[in-house]
Amino acid sequence: MWKKAVMGVAVAAAALTMSACGSASQENSGSAAEAVPEGKSIVVYYSATGNTKRAAETIAKETGSDIYAITPKVPYTEADLDYHNSASRVSKEHKDSSIRPAYTGDVENWNDYKVVYLGYPIWWGEAPAIVYTFTEHHSFEGKTVIPFATSYSSPLGDSGENLFRAAKTGTWLPGECFTGGGKTDDVLGWIHSLKK
Ligand SMILES: Cc1cc2nc3c(=O)[nH]c(=O)nc-3n(C[C@H](O)[C@H](O)[C@H](O)COP(=O)(O)O)c2cc1C
Repeated sequence: MWKKAVMGVAVAAAALTMSACGSASQENSGSAAEAVPEGKSIVVYYSATGNTKRAAETIAKETGSDIYAITPKVPYTEADLDYHNSASRVSKEHKDSSIRPAYTGDVENWNDYKVVYLGYPIWWGEAPAIVYTFTEHHSFEGKTVIPFATSYSSPLGDSGENLFRAAKTGTWLPGECFTGGGKTDDVLGWIHSLKK
């Protein structure tokens, strides 16, 4: 609960800063009463090893949303994902925050969606670079975005706020991170807690 409140305050502050630049939008209070508007919804996710994919599929099924997987143009091998190796692909991407890995294909009829559930694994406390590639390539104007993540043990942290800063548009809710790889019961409990 404290996690959501902290996130909400941080994102609200970011929203205020950004609206001062005339480009972005708002944020809710960060309370548990997250308001998800009516309208066509989609689950957009990136998953390297299947945990976020499983959570995304649960959310899509439970909410009747369409689903889209962000698929890297160059797939991540096991060696690429080795975060113990400072020379691995993920380590390089982590060190150079300007890297934007390409993805293949794109969401069809993006403009039709009012609600976007945006899912990713937590990498070093943040969303992977490829999620930024997607986020920076789309306008979230008029959309409500609900970040969700899976991790071993880390919280969502600033990852949603930082994606919001990159997106510059949309109403971003505090979101949730499912630790332990994302147990389906936790995902279902969260979905049911979101207010319509
Ligand atoms: C490069 C990398 C960095 C990671 N960093 C963290 C981290 O900071 N905190 C954490 O709890 N888990 C971390 N993990 C574990 C993943 O967040 C976790 O296994 C997640 O559920 C994977 O989701 P996926 O199967 O959808 O890729 C990391 C994994 C990788 C590959």
